[in-house]
Amino acid sequence: MNSSTPGIEPELHARRAASFGAEAAAYGAHRPDYPEKALAWALAGAKGTPERVLDLAAGTGKVSEGLLALGVTVTAVEPDAKMLEELTKTLPAVAPLIGTAERIPLPDDSVDAVVAGQAFHWFDLDRAYPEIARVLKPGGVVAALWNHDDESAGWLVELNTLIKTSVSRRWLNDYRSLLEHEAFEPFEKKTFGHKQPRTAESLVATFATHSHMLVATPEEREAKLRTAREFLDRNPETASGEFDLPITTTVFRARKR
Ligand SMILES: C[S@@+](CC[C@H](N)C(=O)[O-])C[C@H]1O[C@@H](n2cnc3c(N)ncnc32)[C@H](O)[C@@H]1O
Repeated sequence: MNSSTPGIEPELHARRAASFGAEAAAYGAHRPDYPEKALAWALAGAKGTPERVLDLAAGTGKVSEGLLALGVTVTAVEPDAKMLEELTKTLPAVAPLIGTAERIPLPDDSVDAVVAGQAFHWFDLDRAYPEIARVLKPGGVVAALWNHDDESAGWLVELNTLIKTSVSRRWLNDYRSLLEHEAFEPFEKKTFGHKQPRTAESLVATFATHSHMLVATPEEREAKLRTAREFLDRNPETASGEFDLPITTTVFRARKR
């Protein structure tokens, strides 16, 4: 959302958007998947039953995997070759393409749904919305999903405050609201409860795949990850063995006009 989100420096935004491939295997291993009900609700916004779906900003294929389980045909578009390489290792049924939301390498009217997980905040929406509308068939749906921390868990709020880095930013338009566009009906929003089994070690490994950690200096990154580990080791909910990381999945969907 770089053209529409004031207060985020363009250079830092670009660096963070391009940071994930450096830890692509860790991303695939440690980031959470998406609840089946959330993906099904996203697709149900289309007129008719979607058959061909684009996973936009597919990364290592977290959304693609869930879409395949719903029985649709999936094409993945992703700018980072290392992320896409991870996807192709585990999801041979998905057609992988290098591309961006602002320049989607698909013909006009070619998919019934465009789904983007954890990615709309990286897009230049002034350019991405018309591209998404172009590749969608009439009556097709665009959906944006975010997995974010369930803020009713006090310990998680406390931990997130402790591990903010000097490059952490709060997006103004993320999972709380979404910019509307004339090509689409108004967005509908729904949230879903989700969880991910974690240990102190694997949660720290998850944090290490977040873009602000990836672009922080090695010293700051190590210090923050050490702080996280120390917190998790003394926090009663996370100190012994496996626990469930509480997640809320927020979905926005809108039908093409
Ligand atoms: C946080 S990851 C999400 C990956 C995957 N969708 C998921 O849910 O796990 C963000 C992804 O967006 C990709 N990305 C960044 N800028 C993009 C753009 N302008 N268009 C398409 N993808 C972009 C990154 O390369 C990265 O793979």
